[in-house]
Amino acid sequence: MLQDTFGRTIDYIRVSVTKQCNFRCQYCMPNTPFDAFDKDEYIPLDNVLEFLKVGIDQGIKKIRITGGEPLLRKDLPEFIAKLREYSKDVQLVLTTNGFLLQKSAEILRKAGLDRINISLDSLKREKIMQISKKDGLNNVLLGIEEALRHGFGIKINSVILKGVNDDEILDLMEYAKNKNISIRFIEYMENIHASDAILGVREKDILEKIATKFKFKILDEQIIGPAKLYQCDDGYIFGIIAPHNDDFCQTCNRIRLTAEGVICPCLYYQDSVDAKPALMSKDPKEIKKVLEQAVFNKPEKNQWDESMPKDKISARAFYHTGG
Ligand code: 5AD
Ligand code: SF4
Repeated sequence: MLQDTFGRTIDYIRVSVTKQCNFRCQYCMPNTPFDAFDKDEYIPLDNVLEFLKVGIDQGIKKIRITGGEPLLRKDLPEFIAKLREYSKDVQLVLTTNGFLLQKSAEILRKAGLDRINISLDSLKREKIMQISKKDGLNNVLLGIEEALRHGFGIKINSVILKGVNDDEILDLMEYAKNKNISIRFIEYMENIHASDAILGVREKDILEKIATKFKFKILDEQIIGPAKLYQCDDGYIFGIIAPHNDDFCQTCNRIRLTAEGVICPCLYYQDSVDAKPALMSKDPKEIKKVLEQAVFNKPEKNQWDESMPKDKISARAFYHTGG
């Protein structure tokens, strides 16, 4: 079992398989050129597989595949199938912008993927173009339908931005609710790669908006993971991810592996462990060593405070660490 120095059990790894993305979201990398990333930097997925096998042997129960946009990696279904072959029990989940999902949902399901989180920040075509620089709404909606058809558990992620999509909180919620998909509203996390022109909306304001239409109560079951869950009168559950809140780090159970083979013990903390040599060696002993080192280095709380100067907030990009 992997346990950090603050008594938290680490049983969840997020793996970014590429920094590349076919979107350029305002809150992520609006000014990054489409050809900014060099493919050769990425660790081959066969090596990532060996890393994750050691992780599973050490008690990892959940693996989330992220990016960038993970569906840009053509060998992803094969990678998932091999992971599934290694462990019947590990939860295999994916975070995607959904643009390529219609094409790949069936093969991902056959490979053994369990669940998918899909980003959907607006239900208006023009707004999606404004937020992500891609005319992607239709593809994303079709992707969601196809994933549902193949029996995936789905969640929708919506980052709420002031004056951009905060007028769609209720519409997004109703869209998800009508399909019985749980939605997570996410507070925008300031970072130096994002647009200067955007402002986030806090949990309190999101809840106030939802309360104008729905009756709900907080679910006070043991919180696992960063989302606080709320339940409507009719049983529907939605969540809010509010890293601006103080108690956000207490239940953190995860570490992250970047596409270049760096382990980040915390999203908002500059410390990291270069696992590339161990990954390239495929040596289980070396892999175990770097894994334990990263868990040992995990800080108690994130080092992030919005009153910090912008260049200190976080230089690390979400498309690098996988969000
Ligand atoms: N703030 C909050 N969430 C972000 N994401 C990416 N960048 C940010 C940010 N700056 C999340 C979004 C997106 C997912 C891939 O990562 O939810 O849908
Ligand atoms: Fe791509 Fe996701 Fe970043 Fe948007 S948030 S640019 S979809 S990696």
